[in-house]
Amino acid sequence: PVVEHPRITVIGTGYLGATHAVCMTALGFDVLGVDVDAAKVAALSAGTVPFFEPGLPEKLREALDSGRLRFTTDFDEAARFGDVHFVCVGTPQAPGSNAADLRFVEAAFAELAARIDRRALLVGKSTVPIGTAARIADEVRTLSPAGDDLELAWNPEFLREGFAVEDTLHPDRLVFGVTSDWAEAQLRAAFRPILDRDTPLVVADLATAELVKVAANSFLATKISYINAMAEVCEATGADVTVLATALGYDDRIGARFLKPGLGFGGGCLPKDIRAFTHRAAELGVGQAVAFLEEVDAINIRRRIRTVDLVRELAGGSLAGVRVAALGAAFKPNSDDVRDAPALDVARMLYLEGASVTVYDPEATQNAHRVYPDLDFASSLGQAVASAEVVALLTEWDEFRSADPTTLGELVARRRIVDGRHALDADRYRAAGWEYRALGLPSGA
Ligand code: UGA
Repeated sequence: PVVEHPRITVIGTGYLGATHAVCMTALGFDVLGVDVDAAKVAALSAGTVPFFEPGLPEKLREALDSGRLRFTTDFDEAARFGDVHFVCVGTPQAPGSNAADLRFVEAAFAELAARIDRRALLVGKSTVPIGTAARIADEVRTLSPAGDDLELAWNPEFLREGFAVEDTLHPDRLVFGVTSDWAEAQLRAAFRPILDRDTPLVVADLATAELVKVAANSFLATKISYINAMAEVCEATGADVTVLATALGYDDRIGARFLKPGLGFGGGCLPKDIRAFTHRAAELGVGQAVAFLEEVDAINIRRRIRTVDLVRELAGGSLAGVRVAALGAAFKPNSDDVRDAPALDVARMLYLEGASVTVYDPEATQNAHRVYPDLDFASSLGQAVASAEVVALLTEWDEFRSADPTTLGELVARRRIVDGRHALDADRYRAAGWEYRALGLPSGA
């Protein structure tokens, strides 16, 4: 029998899980968020989101006020409470390898399964190597007192940081990886409010559901690296990659989205997902099929090196002792996430070449400082650019886009700027006396 209004648990209250728990509450369900980290549980219970995500704090407080959302560290309580259990723990890149580290996923499923003694559905949301779900399905059946009554489904998540609430409540599509009609029906009940809005649903087997996720992120990464590869060609020919991208984007078979040239992709997903996919494909004997992803990764890393080159060129050939203002540390604007952040990587490379680097980011300073305690951090844009000899824009925050080139020009020692994200109006900067350089543009353009 399907529970029409299932009680929901969400295991793992990081980025994905906290958002999922809050949004499931907003959709009308009773939800229990579970995490091994007592500090996280305490913060969320008190209405505090421990990371930066626009709109989420307000939604969390609404959800708590409704009385239908609670957080706990207690897996016994979770096992008793839930009809549908979503596992949302992280799958970072394993230390010293390209593979995904599955320890947290394995542990979460094992902890739950051992305690569940009635019919229930476990749903994996984490991004995992293909084949993981089928293996875990067997493991949980063996571990659980419920035996075959405990089923596993996979429901990949496509939310973007910065748009997490919107993407969760209004997804482009839902994907259910299932092995039985019951699991499909139970998942449909858990997503009824979204499905009732005619959101496209793809029902698949477990392996296909796992693959949709990595294939989607690989495609997005490939699209970004494609235009960045064209930027390299532009740099060698004097062509302009921004004009090229605009012209390509008008072809709606290609599309303008994710075709924005610049410093490239980073974050906790795209880089590690393409690497884990490459690793898994090799294990499956189809390494060749995705060998191009290694090139996608390499193109992406070369953009960072090229950005450092541009700063060095503007500085007159050497970075030693040059004061550089690095604007941005987060992997993209409207996020405080510095995981695999191109901006921070560039700041680090500049520092290693002897530049005196001051980093400013509107939200990510604390996280960045934890990763690179040796870098200098400013607490405002003005402070960061004060007496800079080169300014490097590395993350396209609105605060940087809207800055006035004349005002900025009065603060710096030399009006020289590298626009790593094509975020600025080159003409305005030049008119205000700046030497302006950007990736994929001829130097005078
Ligand atoms: C990405 C996917 O877009 C989500 O669909 C997916 O759910 C998520 O990963 C995940 O697997 O959890 P996210 O990492 O939040 O989402 O960030 P994106 O908005 O995709 O941006 C990724 C990176 O690409 C950023 O560093 C951004 O600056 C860069 N980017 C994006 C470009 O360089 N050019 C573009 O045209 C677009």
